[in-house]
Amino acid sequence: MAVADLVLGCMYFGTTTDERTAFALLDRFVEAGGTTLDTADCYAFWASGTGAGGQSEEVLGRWLRARPGVREQVVLATKVGPEPVVPGDPSRGVVGLAPDVVRRSFEASRERLGVEVVDVYWAHLEDRSVPLEDVVATFGGLVADGGVRRLGISNHPTWRVERARALAAAAGVEPFSLLQLTTSYVRPRPDVDVPGKDHRFGFATDETLDYLTAHPDLELWAYSPLVQGAYDRPDRPFPDAYDHPGTARRLAALAEVAGELGVAPGQVVLAWLLGGRPAARPIVGVSSVEQLDQALAAADLALDDEQRGRLDGAR
Ligand SMILES: NC(=O)c1ccc[n+]([C@@H]2O[C@H](COP(=O)([O-])OP(=O)(O)OC[C@H]3O[C@@H](n4cnc5c(N)ncnc54)[C@H](OP(=O)(O)O)[C@@H]3O)[C@@H](O)[C@H]2O)c1
Repeated sequence: MAVADLVLGCMYFGTTTDERTAFALLDRFVEAGGTTLDTADCYAFWASGTGAGGQSEEVLGRWLRARPGVREQVVLATKVGPEPVVPGDPSRGVVGLAPDVVRRSFEASRERLGVEVVDVYWAHLEDRSVPLEDVVATFGGLVADGGVRRLGISNHPTWRVERARALAAAAGVEPFSLLQLTTSYVRPRPDVDVPGKDHRFGFATDETLDYLTAHPDLELWAYSPLVQGAYDRPDRPFPDAYDHPGTARRLAALAEVAGELGVAPGQVVLAWLLGGRPAARPIVGVSSVEQLDQALAAADLALDDEQRGRLDGAR
């Protein structure tokens, strides 16, 4: 486990997190040995004045320009798919993953970021109106053209991930080799959408973990790992999706281990994800340097086998 395994979530940079704070977070993250930055072209349309996204990529672009040489030190990941077609009204549809949309959106992302190459490009959501063959060919084409290094797939059910990877192998194009789902220590009830995000297949499940174990070339990134801070803050109750008896047992085990280690429960969650089998790289969403420092410290936290066994066993 190391700080380099953490991913810095930049979702609110340029909207609820002002640019000065965003720069401070980015500087601190890189200074501490962090490398990987996660954003999306749609961040954060729901928090912006215009109802359109792009602010996060723009802030990252300005930060990269303001810090000569830093581009080579970081891994930049961005995504396409959920930007509303009509700004401010996602109920009227999102841009999705049609080939021309992806290519156009990718160019716009490159422009906002001010880079030639994007290290990881994600399909942010499913778009079943587009044949999966076309999605695979379009994303693979971006790698073949040299604009992207690796491909990621987010909020897709496992069977579609497997099919996309099989199609890529058959077509001889770059496969999706990263998977982004919401993953934390508490587990949601079955049949619930990701709270507030409307992603039916956004949760990593036991089946996901089984698939990842059998496919070690596929890397898992865990979004919203701290459930908006619910582990550490009484003012942030867990969403209804986690309302079942297993949550109480897991929170009791977490409190025990956190108490033994003298750290916050949320830090144990990050360490548990990082050191799991399969491991998950937490995408930490933070809005202050203090919160970031807590996450950075968690990357150095060692859980022994007994503690990990106790945490795993609480169901
Ligand atoms: N692929 C997808 O569909 C998808 C969806 C969602 C997110 N993401 C990615 O995942 C990243 C993280 O998502 P998220 O913001 O939803 O993550 P989260 O882990 O659920 O919540 C982050 C929030 O938790 C609170 N927090 C963080 N550290 C804390 C600490 N030490 N003590 C107390 N509270 C703390 C902060 O709230 P306050 O700021 O209010 O203090 C912070 O903004 C995003 O930036 C994005 O890159 C991807």
